Amino acid sequence: MIHQEKPTIFSGVQPSGNLHLGNYLGAISRWANLQDKNQCIFCVVDYHAITIKQDPLELKKNIIETAKIYLASGIDPKKSIIFQQSQVSEHTELAWILNCVSARMSDLNKMTQYKDKAEGNENVSVGLFDYPVLMASDILLYNTDLVPTGEDQKQHVELSRTLAKRFNSQYKELFRIPEPLIERSGARIMGLDDAFKKMSKSAKSEFNYIGLLDSPEQARKKIMKAVTDTGSEIKYDKENKPAISNLLTIYSLLSKKTIKELEVDYKGRGYGDFKKDLAEVVINFLSDFQKRYNKISDKEVVSVLLKGKKKAKNIAEKKLSEVKKSLGVL
Ligand code: AMP
Ligand code: TRP
Repeated sequence: MIHQEKPTIFSGVQPSGNLHLGNYLGAISRWANLQDKNQCIFCVVDYHAITIKQDPLELKKNIIETAKIYLASGIDPKKSIIFQQSQVSEHTELAWILNCVSARMSDLNKMTQYKDKAEGNENVSVGLFDYPVLMASDILLYNTDLVPTGEDQKQHVELSRTLAKRFNSQYKELFRIPEPLIERSGARIMGLDDAFKKMSKSAKSEFNYIGLLDSPEQARKKIMKAVTDTGSEIKYDKENKPAISNLLTIYSLLSKKTIKELEVDYKGRGYGDFKKDLAEVVINFLSDFQKRYNKISDKEVVSVLLKGKKKAKNIAEKKLSEVKKSLGVL
């Protein structure tokens, strides 16, 4: 086993457009704080995005946009490796190997994200089914200790543990066993139009999510239209008041006020007042975020991704060649 000084962190987001507050609060915003005490690697996972149909021009634009969002969220290329998955071919090579020697149909048949996305339709790509094996390769190539994501990725990280253990016991102890890192608050931001479904970029209505690049008018409209619960009290109660609890979570994370403080502030006041203030909090956040975002040029992003690719490739190459040796193909 290689012993590194700092724990290694790996995470990624798909460049499938419309990155939203759920992505930010559940994942990306947490990453910046991890950079000082860990070796962090953040990937734009474009080969995951193509598991569903993508327009080539849009995809190209979204790859740059996603990396820019990383930078605007405080991910510092001097501290962390930022790169594009398809540029390091070791990811797909390891995925094939794990497909053959570690992953079982029965493992993948259990994955709830696949079931949600395929909705029982068999006419979906094989890649969509195999998606978690590529994700395991991303994680395992870098001796990852911790994988910070939202709640929905927990099952996939657990699968990567299973695949690593199986490989280690069958061949050689080459893979470190990663742990999921999921925060208690914000790990599952719900849709603004339906508090029982997670906020999602593939939602049918744009009133489901606040995009990180939404205009102030769009954001205000979406907050004011957000569903609420019966009653009128502003109180955190996930079971009986799922919609208000979700809005309180967003308010708290963006304003750095605790939910308790917010409940006191809004005692005796109605949903209308609460939503108006929340809209202002969201707009302020978006305006600061977008100021940082707009200062970053495409050229700068391309240069960051290129440097990141070299560093990532260096690590990935070594791991893959050990894997190949142990399999007998090198
Ligand atoms: P994706 O957009 O599926 O590539 O997800 C990127 C990251 O955002 C992953 O770590 C997800 O777990 C996280 N994420 C996506 N949707 C949400 C949500 N509604 N709430 C919290 N985290 C989320
Ligand atoms: N599957 C993740 C998602 O949809 C994205 C992802 C791909 C990822 N590879 C990863 C996240 C490796 C963490 C680590 O959100």
